[in-house]
This record gives sequence, C-alpha cells and structure tokens, in this order.
Amino acid sequence: MSQASPPAPQPGLFGKQLVLGVTGSIAAYKAVVLLRRLVQEGAEVSVVMTESATRFLSPLTFEILSGRAVTTDLFAANQGMRHLALADQADGIVIAPATANMLAKLALGLADDVLSTMALAATCPLIVAPAMDGEMWNHPTVQAHAETLRARGVTVLQPEEGMLASGDVGKGRLPDETTILSAIEARLCLRQDWAGQRVLVSAGPTQEAIDPVRFISNRSSGKMGYALALAARRRGAEVVLVSGPTALRAPAGIEYVPVNTAEEMGKAIVSRFTWSTVVIMAAAVADFRPARPSHGKLKKTESAWRRIEFEPTEDILETLAKQRATQVLVGFAAETEAVLDHAQQKLVRKGLDLIVGNNVATEGCGFGSDTNAAILVDRTGRVTRFDAMPKRELAERILDAVQALTPTSPGHHPESPSGAHKRTNA
Ligand SMILES: Cc1cc2nc3c(=O)[nH]c(=O)nc-3n(C[C@H](O)[C@H](O)[C@H](O)COP(=O)(O)O)c2cc1C
Repeated sequence: MSQASPPAPQPGLFGKQLVLGVTGSIAAYKAVVLLRRLVQEGAEVSVVMTESATRFLSPLTFEILSGRAVTTDLFAANQGMRHLALADQADGIVIAPATANMLAKLALGLADDVLSTMALAATCPLIVAPAMDGEMWNHPTVQAHAETLRARGVTVLQPEEGMLASGDVGKGRLPDETTILSAIEARLCLRQDWAGQRVLVSAGPTQEAIDPVRFISNRSSGKMGYALALAARRRGAEVVLVSGPTALRAPAGIEYVPVNTAEEMGKAIVSRFTWSTVVIMAAAVADFRPARPSHGKLKKTESAWRRIEFEPTEDILETLAKQRATQVLVGFAAETEAVLDHAQQKLVRKGLDLIVGNNVATEGCGFGSDTNAAILVDRTGRVTRFDAMPKRELAERILDAVQALTPTSPGHHPESPSGAHKRTNA
C-alpha cells in the first residue's frame, strides 16, 4: 500500500454537511447558483424542496448539481425518516429563498412539510434568506416572524432593495450568493481549532476470511469513527480515515482508505503513523482470525466446519505505542460490563493517552446506533462521563478531550516530508 497523500487543508465550508432548503419563491432559480457555489467550496449539500418550490424548478436540476437525491416529500415511500437523518447530520440548514409562508411556519413551529419538520427537528444553526414582494416583507406579521426567529438565534438575512420579480422596486430581493455564502461561513466556520493537526482515524469492523465467500466480523457500523473524522476535518485538521467495510459514504475532504482485514488495517495505519499527530482507533478490529482460511469454498458437509482454529491478529495499538514519537493515541473500549474498569486497564496496558469506553449492550449506545454514551479516561486518570447523545456531538467532546492532551498547540507541527498534499476524495 502506498504512503498516504493527506488532504490539503481547506478552510471555510469544506466538508461541511449542509441542507439547502428551497421554497416557492420566484427567486428559487437563484438557489441553483447558490448550490453551485456551495459545492465549489467543498460543502456536501442535500437539497430539500417544498412542494411549491417544485412548481418553479425541477428537483432534477438540484439533484444533478448536488450529486444527491433531493428530498421533496415527507411521506415518500423511499424517504421515510430521511428528514430526521438529514437534520441530525447537518452542520447547518440554509433556507434560500425563504417565502413569507416558510418564515411563518418556522416562527410558529409548524411542521406540515418536509422542510419545516426538519428545521424543527434540527439542532444545528439555521440560516434563512427571505425573498418576497416588498409589501409582503414590510408586513408587520412577516417582520414579527423574522424578529421571533432572530431572537431564537436564527440568522435571518436582510433582503436587498432593488428590482423585484413583479417589476416593482422595493426591499425583498434575495441577496446574491456571495452575501449568503459569507453569512453561512460567518455562522458555521468559527471553530478551526484543529488546524495544523494531522489525524489518522480508523473506523468500522474488519472481515476475516473463513473461505473465499465467508468471513467473521462484528457489528461495528463505523458511525462513531466517521463522526470523529468529520468533526476533526470540520475543525480544520487534515484527516485520513482508514475504514473497514461499512454502509457509510466516504466523506468528502478526507483521504479515505478502505480496508477489509485486520492485517490491511494495521498496514494502512502503521504506514501513516509518522505523518500523524493524533491517532484515533475507533475501528472494531478483529482480535482473532481463522488460522487457515480455506482456498476453496467449504462445502456444507465438510467436517472443517466443526472446528475452525483461530490465531490472534496484530495488536495495532500496541505496535503504535512502541513506535510513537509525540503522537496522541486514542483507543476505544467496547464493553458489555464494568466499562470503567476495563477502559482504565486498557488505557494503561496499551499506553494510550485517552480511552473512550462505552457499553455496547445498552440501548441507544454503541454499534449501529446514532447515539452513544461514553466514559472517557485520560492518561492523567481523569474520568469524564457523557450521557447518550448523537455520535457527532460525542465526537466533538472527544476531540475537546484530545485537545487538552495535545503536546504542542495546533499549527506547530513539522511539515509532512512528502511535501505536496492532495485531496483524494472530494
Ligand atoms: C409566481 C409566484 C411567485 C411567488 N413568489 C414568492 C416570493 O418570492 N416570496 C414569497 O414569499 N412567496 C411567493 N409566492 C407565493 C408562495 O409560492 C406561496 O405562498 C406558497 O404557498 C409558498 O409555499 P412554501 O413556503 O411551502 O414554499 C409566489 C407565488 C407565485 C405563484
């Protein structure tokens, strides 16, 4: 496997997960230009359209430009709960253009279509760019709704003065895409506190072959590792994600290294170790693999099935601990009992700086779940408990804990010897 070519640092919206909500304004066509700018900036944009918006523009336009399915219907057969998934994953929701109707729904908490329902379910920042006729914008009800939203922390952009679609001149025009982009950046790109860090993350399960068609594996979904990789990227780090087989999409802006076996994962991690400043081993790497995988497919009748011998795989963290210079090493302990004890023991045994223990037998935690509760133990012995929360939020808390242990401040690490970095997965 070749040496990593880590991604170049790209500030701003790069790698951010955005929802672009488009509503039924005559200015809906301008959302196409905005989408193109967001994509050019490296944001990953999922477009959600109201039914009225689809009267102005075809979802196909947005689908092609975003490279993602467009969500238009809360009840569409193949989109069940998609509104919640999008709300959960988004770093920000941008509604541009926003109709007077949508402003009212947001202000009142109405949820009778996919976009308003999503906005109500989301905890991420909401940025709204109203566009409407001047008289509508000046109407006391519309103004009151805009004020209500601002008071609630929503960024409501001022519409611009100028020629309106009706031919009248007034205040109600959608600001141009550069203005909207700046507002999004101002709201979402405050934290670049991991700039200068080079982060190696492992995620997902490994698969160990029994024969050419069967393997043993585990229930790891990769969600926690992906959330960590994305969080580090969002906070300005260069990130390499070494992932076992998962159902998740390779994140943009991150060098993605797919692997299958524990051996492949070990090689991928170890070969990039000197490049890294922080290593987060969130993968559920197999501890044992079949000692002698069969070259041919085992038949149903074969006695080999009665006894498959296993041998230990390489302990990647132990290998890293022996080779480390100043890297911060973070491990995970997926347990079903005595989580704190096991986590503390593993921290010491493997020479880690931080360990994230979680009880995978608890409902709403661990494998496959979108939420996780965790106990963090660091090398100073400090124990921090986090109740169940979305994995992306827990990822931020874990990064905060790592940051407290980082030997040099971000931005002061030596340059990669490989020189030019290239982004491989955007
Ligand atoms: C040609 C046309 C243009 C419209 N332009 C706007 C507009 O710019 N802003 C606005 O608030 N409503 C506008 N409307 C009215 C909205 O489409 C209407 O209120 C609709 O119910 C909004 O639905 P939505 O908020 O779910 O997208 C327009 C309607 C038509 C027919």
